[in-house]
Amino acid sequence: MSLPNHAPVPELYVSFDSAQKLKADAGTLPSWDLTQRQICDLELLMNGGFHPLKGFLTEADYDGVVENMRLADGRLWPMPVTLDVSETFAEGVEPGQDIALRDAEGVILAILSVTDKWVPNKDREAEKVFGANDLAHPAVNYLHHTAGKVYLGGPITGIQPPVHYDFKMRRDTPNELRAFFRKMGWTRVVAFQTRNPLHRAHQELTFRAAREAQANLLIHPVVGMTKPGDIDHFTRVRCYEAVLDQYPSSTTTLSLLNLAMRMGGPREAVWHGLIRRNHGCTHMIVGRDHAGPGKNSEGKDFYGPYEAQELFKAHADEIGVEMVDFKQMVYVQEKAQYFPVDEVPEGSTVLDISGTELRRRLREGLEIPEWFSFPDVVSELRRTSPARSKQGFTVFFTGLSGSGKSTIANALMVKLMEMGGRPVTLLDGDVVRKHLSSELGFSKEHRDINIKRIGYVASEITKNGGIAICAPIAPYTATRRAVREMIEAFGAFIEVHVATPIEECERRDRKGLYKLAREGKIKEFTGISDPYEVPAKAELVVDTANVSVDHCAHQVILKLEQMGLIRA
Ligand code: PPS
Repeated sequence: MSLPNHAPVPELYVSFDSAQKLKADAGTLPSWDLTQRQICDLELLMNGGFHPLKGFLTEADYDGVVENMRLADGRLWPMPVTLDVSETFAEGVEPGQDIALRDAEGVILAILSVTDKWVPNKDREAEKVFGANDLAHPAVNYLHHTAGKVYLGGPITGIQPPVHYDFKMRRDTPNELRAFFRKMGWTRVVAFQTRNPLHRAHQELTFRAAREAQANLLIHPVVGMTKPGDIDHFTRVRCYEAVLDQYPSSTTTLSLLNLAMRMGGPREAVWHGLIRRNHGCTHMIVGRDHAGPGKNSEGKDFYGPYEAQELFKAHADEIGVEMVDFKQMVYVQEKAQYFPVDEVPEGSTVLDISGTELRRRLREGLEIPEWFSFPDVVSELRRTSPARSKQGFTVFFTGLSGSGKSTIANALMVKLMEMGGRPVTLLDGDVVRKHLSSELGFSKEHRDINIKRIGYVASEITKNGGIAICAPIAPYTATRRAVREMIEAFGAFIEVHVATPIEECERRDRKGLYKLAREGKIKEFTGISDPYEVPAKAELVVDTANVSVDHCAHQVILKLEQMGLIRA
């Protein structure tokens, strides 16, 4: 009889012949272009990573999952896996209908037989699943600002897995991993979930955990979607590969998991456990603040430090995976060796470098000692994160019409060009509306499209090491935040609020638009008949009412110097 972690887990794929036929017949079906997160979810649904789910949650399953972490039939499932769509798309779909699910290139991956269509209560979902309806939580922000308004549920017929062009040899389905464990005779496997590069302390703790559990080790990093701002998965995988040699051969393996994390702390830990069980693991390392989302809008942690471990332990039997405590390891200088923090010999000197300190050293090109990390890992990190003064960045001016954004932006551009070193591009509000957004008006929807286009171009410039200066009104907080996230994936984002009061802008009325707006001849005019949401956390606030343009631009330059983005 095969062991539970060796027997195959059910998949949702049909045979090759049926898939060909379904593909041919799918031309007439309504098509939904999956988002990046939905592609990750679909892959794990189809390959059995999300077993026992057979599709996107129905309304009854969703209600059970949200309220008490259980599907309608009582089985444990802590995280909503839902297909969110726009209202427009949902209008054309009714329960009983099939829809084709396609990737960004239009390739059909699966058919969803829709059984349920509903408008979820997102406030409740945020409160119950993530513990707070607070936009500082990345998944709550996603729920309210990225996810569609309507959910569709029903079983999936899998046609083909999403295509990956990178690290093919390191990607395994649950059944491929189970087959590998069977072949190697690994009956006890401890999984290590991570979204960060591994340094010496991680290597020590994972090796120790495997030894204590008398198990083999699976390093199982997430390469789907992690926390906005994390190190990209390409760099991380090269780092993991560099660490693999540090383990005794044939005790450890590395496999990549295309999961879209929600940073849901305790519930996410239980979810990770179920996913690891499906991948044939018997144990999982769970640490302090597992899958934590960072601070809430009041600057406090969303979850208690041991909440994830407690929830996992309470459900360990049902999960089918034993929890292994994550022992924080620190370096003891006198012994030139790592110790668990609670076993450090008395009176010895303990060395540690926090994540924030490591990022600072990388940013500023400072030394990273050998006791902390492996030279190959450090050189990989340095290769992709050059010192800040060599990276691209975006300066994003926001403010009312006539506040002086464009003038300061122009002055800043000239000053930066005078310094040289990096190409500078100015994406001014008026210029963008002429060249990129000529068909758009000033409704909320159109303004959002306009700003997201600017954000997209600026993120490409930033990614490629240039400087983007943007100067639109950008009146909405949520849209500015979306742009910040797009850019911070590649470099620094400096929001500058040009806070010239409306009275002053109106007094100047350079283009005569305020007069027309007051007369009602221009509708939806920002500050008059349309809102401007004042930035709460801009990196810099300038007011042109009492200060010259030159001085405002100089203030930005000083800020850039202070942030290490330009050399003094
Ligand atoms: S937005 O909200 O960010 O998309 O606006 P933006 O692209 O920066 O465009 C603002 C310029 O368009 C002119 N204009 C208006 N502004 C605000 N509201 C309404 N209804 C409107 N209609 C036309 C105005 O000249 C803005 O230019 P600036 O340079 O900001 O003065």
